[in-house]
Amino acid sequence: MALAVKGLEGVVAAETRLSFIDGEAGILEFVGIPIGELATHSTFEETVFLLWNVRLPSKAELSAFVSQVRANYEPPADLVKLIQAMPKDAQPMHVMRTLISALGLYDPQPNKIDSPALREKALKALACAPTILAYFDRHRRGLPMVHPDKNLGIAENFLYMLNGQRPTPTMARALDVCLILHADHGLNNSTFTARVIASTQSDIYSALTGATGSLRGPLHGGANEGVMVMLNEIPSVDAAEKHVLEKLAKKDKIMGFGHRIYKSYDPRATHLKVLAKQLAKDTGNEGLYEKSHRIEQVMENAVAAKGIYPNVDFYSATTYHCIGLKLDLFTPMFVAGRIAGWSAHIIEQLADNRLFRPDADYVGPHGVEYTPLEKR
Ligand code: CMC
Repeated sequence: MALAVKGLEGVVAAETRLSFIDGEAGILEFVGIPIGELATHSTFEETVFLLWNVRLPSKAELSAFVSQVRANYEPPADLVKLIQAMPKDAQPMHVMRTLISALGLYDPQPNKIDSPALREKALKALACAPTILAYFDRHRRGLPMVHPDKNLGIAENFLYMLNGQRPTPTMARALDVCLILHADHGLNNSTFTARVIASTQSDIYSALTGATGSLRGPLHGGANEGVMVMLNEIPSVDAAEKHVLEKLAKKDKIMGFGHRIYKSYDPRATHLKVLAKQLAKDTGNEGLYEKSHRIEQVMENAVAAKGIYPNVDFYSATTYHCIGLKLDLFTPMFVAGRIAGWSAHIIEQLADNRLFRPDADYVGPHGVEYTPLEKR
């Protein structure tokens, strides 16, 4: 019997054509295209098409796809009633997980898993996840819902629904880039979760719900909120060094640093750092950026030799804050982007499925005598 590989580190559990990561060289590609090219030239909608079709769209295909996405912005009416019945102090990640699951209740054929059905259901989930989030945020603030505007792209429309006014082109594009950068990332924990659930031939809602639950954890997508908590705890740029070194001395993890695969700079963090710096300048949040940058310098001196660098979550905290998102919307925003990758992986898994069923290395006793209850 082979020994257990803790955390499945280094275990290759699937073949994929979706994203490629070279953790030593700091390379990430979607369908062979470097993430930097996509962040510079693409849109989230085009990136979703790329992941779902394993190729870039033609102009006509992209236009048709964008129209389909926009036609699906509005969630089912009964699901909107559920949002209005939700406790106002519910955490948005719990709301997202619950409502992604609830989407299956309003689908007349939730269990269909042929490729066209999966694409249709993925499209609905992708298109209405931001609406669900914006509707819930306005519900908890006691504000009327702002219905989606089908003339706007996903990022711009989300900020419009959230704030009741159209964002500046800079803010809309910043969020669009964030969605691109978060769209897929190999066999990360939530994507693996989605593929594991899909491999039982369960439905896509179950797989997306499980993936959302996985993403919430602070070792995964929840780290972006952890970064913001840390930034709020540190009173000034000058206080950053002491704070970080004290945490490291206690063997605490610094949120937004380290990665199972990257042992060099996460290429997504490269982009987010530039974005965060610019947005901080535009919005008068230079202090927040400077604090983040100082933390990065301290971490570089302290732990870069161990291959610990900023990951995608570190500068996304400053970026989201500057875009005007509340702290507890950061991880749900990650969900809104990663639904693209989860869905692509579910489709890929089911195109050539084999049930995931690894083995465990049993380390307990054998042949233990059963002690009757009255003798225990
Ligand atoms: N701060 C301080 N030390 C760290 C950190 C960190 N953020 N990350 C790793 N280390 C140290 C860790 O203490 C250990 O040291 P030693 O060998 O001396 O005991 C060594 O690096 C290996 O750490 P590990 O936890 O065994 O590594 P892993 O591959 O199991 O975990 C990780 C990867 C992402 C869970 C971890 O780096 C971590 O907890 N980071 C903080 C949370 C975070 O930012 N998560 C987001 C991950 S990337 C995007 C996403 O998935 O959302």
